Order: sequence, then C-alpha cells, then structure tokens
Amino acid sequence: MQIAPSLLSCDFSIFGAEIERMDKSGADMMHLDVMDGHFVPNLTFGAPVIKKLRNYTDKPFDVHLMISEPLKYIYDFCDAGADIISFHTEADSDIDETLKKIESRNVKPALAIKPGTAPEAVFPYLDRLYMVLVMTVEPGFGGQSFMADMMYKVEAIKAEAKKRNLDLLVQVDGGIATETIKVAANAGVDICVAGTSVFKPEDAKAAIDELKALCE
Ligand code: DX5
Ligand code: ZN
Repeated sequence: MQIAPSLLSCDFSIFGAEIERMDKSGADMMHLDVMDGHFVPNLTFGAPVIKKLRNYTDKPFDVHLMISEPLKYIYDFCDAGADIISFHTEADSDIDETLKKIESRNVKPALAIKPGTAPEAVFPYLDRLYMVLVMTVEPGFGGQSFMADMMYKVEAIKAEAKKRNLDLLVQVDGGIATETIKVAANAGVDICVAGTSVFKPEDAKAAIDELKALCE
C-alpha cells in the first residue's frame, strides 16, 4: 500500500518543513488539497504555494483539485510541479478538455468522485487515466469518519480496469487510520491518503509504517 500524507493536516506556518518531515517519514507522495471555497466550503492554497514547496522534496506531488473550474488552472498546476492531477467529475469543467490539457504536459491524469457519485461516472475516461480517486468522506475537511460503504466503487472500478487490461491505480481519501486501512486494502485500493492519522501522532514515521504493515 502506498501512503500519501494529506498536507491539509500539517502546520501551514512551516509548510516546507512539514513536507521534509513527511519525506523522511516514508511518504510515497505528497497529497496537496486545493480548495476554492466554491466547489467545497473551505479554502486552502493554489499553484504559487505548490511551486515554492517543490524545492522541499523529490517525491511526487499528488494534487487534488477541489475547485469548480479545474480547466482554467491546469497549466498553472503543471508548471508548479504537479506529478498527478486529480479533478472532480462533479466540477463544471468539460472532462475531456481538462484531461487533454493535463495529457499535453505529460502529467498523470486522475478523476475524483464524491460519495454521491456512481463509479460508472469515470468509466468513459478509464483508458486515459493514471488513477481514480474515490472519496471516502465529503470533500472539504480533514478529520471526518471513513465511509466503508464506498468500497463497492473501488471494487467496480478495479474490475472494469482489469476487464480492459489497464494498469489503473485506485486511491481513497478521507478517514484513513489504523482502524480503517484494512478495509481499503481488502477492496483493492493502491494508494491511501492520510491526514489526521499521520500528522496527529508525534512520530509520523511510526504512523506510516504501522498503516503499511496493517495492509501486508
Ligand atoms: C478532504 C481532503 C482529504 C483530507 C483527508 O477534502 O481531500 O485529503 O485532508 O484528511 P483525513 O485523513 O484527516 O480524513
Ligand atoms: Zn484530498
């Protein structure tokens, strides 16, 4: 299991140092939650901040766009150093056009779905995707409870990818902790985003090691 710490739970006054700490603690990638106060009822940071953070690690930047108009900002996030860009099927931008922009910069494209969205929403684009992000909380805030009833989506997407012979990764985001990660692993999840459960304990390395060990 790969672990992507969600920097939403970090100390923003020392953002760069928090990235370095996650790098040293065994994070597989950095999950960066971009919120616009419109698609979700919360605001975080944008491309200029991500660009500055790029200097603190060589690990991949997994940028999760919770914004209404991802199409408008794709090039900004590519130029800022994103390695993976996830945007939501529920956003207002045309999905095909948004994917084309991401593909044109050789960044890995991913589609994200909220708890109310069916897994079939991503099927028309599956062949073009590096990853699908299945939300296991309503997007907007860290520290919410994991929705185990989203696991049928992980299974459905994995089954469809297998049928089409695709190397598609599935990520879950929200409420991942020692009590819940096994449920995700059993459903076939490849990457778990973890905010609270990695940042709250003093020893992030021990927390990440434990999460990974539970999946073996
Ligand atoms: C929620 C964000 C998540 C969140 C996860 O909208 O997309 O990445 O930070 O935080 P935890 O792990 O605390 O649920
Ligand atoms: Zn996220």
